[in-house]
Amino acid sequence: MHDVDDRLAYVETKAPLVFDDIDFTVRDPRWVSTALAAPLEYAQRVESVVAALGIETLIPRHDERVQRFLVVWTADEVGHGLALAQLMRLLGLTPTPDSDPTLPFHNHLVGAMSRMSSRMHQVVEAVWGTAGAMNEHLAMAAYARMDAMLRERNEQALHETLFRRLRAHESAHKSFYAAYAADVMARMLPWQRRLVRLIVHHTYKPVGAGSKRDRPAFARTVRALAGDDWEVTLVTPVQQVAERLLNEGHEMDRFVRRAVLNCLSTAA
Ligand SMILES: [Fe+2]
Ligand SMILES: [Fe+2]
Repeated sequence: MHDVDDRLAYVETKAPLVFDDIDFTVRDPRWVSTALAAPLEYAQRVESVVAALGIETLIPRHDERVQRFLVVWTADEVGHGLALAQLMRLLGLTPTPDSDPTLPFHNHLVGAMSRMSSRMHQVVEAVWGTAGAMNEHLAMAAYARMDAMLRERNEQALHETLFRRLRAHESAHKSFYAAYAADVMARMLPWQRRLVRLIVHHTYKPVGAGSKRDRPAFARTVRALAGDDWEVTLVTPVQQVAERLLNEGHEMDRFVRRAVLNCLSTAA
């Protein structure tokens, strides 16, 4: 496992996504807008809301390294959202407009909880890091698949100047979250680690598919990107991210599969 400082340096020095450098040339707009409509809609919506989720409330006394990470991370995700929105407009798709961030109630609750004691605060940080690593893995896998589909269709410009970067950014984000979670977990007492495991296990939902209203869009994305292989390409790797950080020899049931299945069945 990499160390936190090392991963932070990687996040801070990676090549940025510069809007004006993106080449939005599309050879076959009809194909792209059909094949990637659902994934683009899902990804653009998630990118544009995720940075406004009120992480300050969640981790009120965060580590200086978390603050530095969040500065770059927020700029990255906002930039991803803007780039995807532009691509969608060029393809005749309608991006989700930016909305004022409303802090979900559970964020307030978690914030209050983590102000209670430093031991509880560590639990919140480890949950944040683990869920973050799982979500970023999902984002990375989605962009990797979209990128592969574009390359198969010779959409070189989008591959070179946009999707390759998106994939690399999500991978950098993931590695910071995972390193941070591992770092906090290593300093915890056994009851804290058990609690982290319990919370992740019982509250995990794929990013951007937490509310019932958003599950159909997630389901359409899964179908467009993974087809019948969703368990192998999507569920198993995300479950492995969680297990690497949390299981310590304890069996974890297939909770990621259950969460994804829940989205797929509500949508059907
Ligand atoms: Fe992103
Ligand atoms: Fe990300």
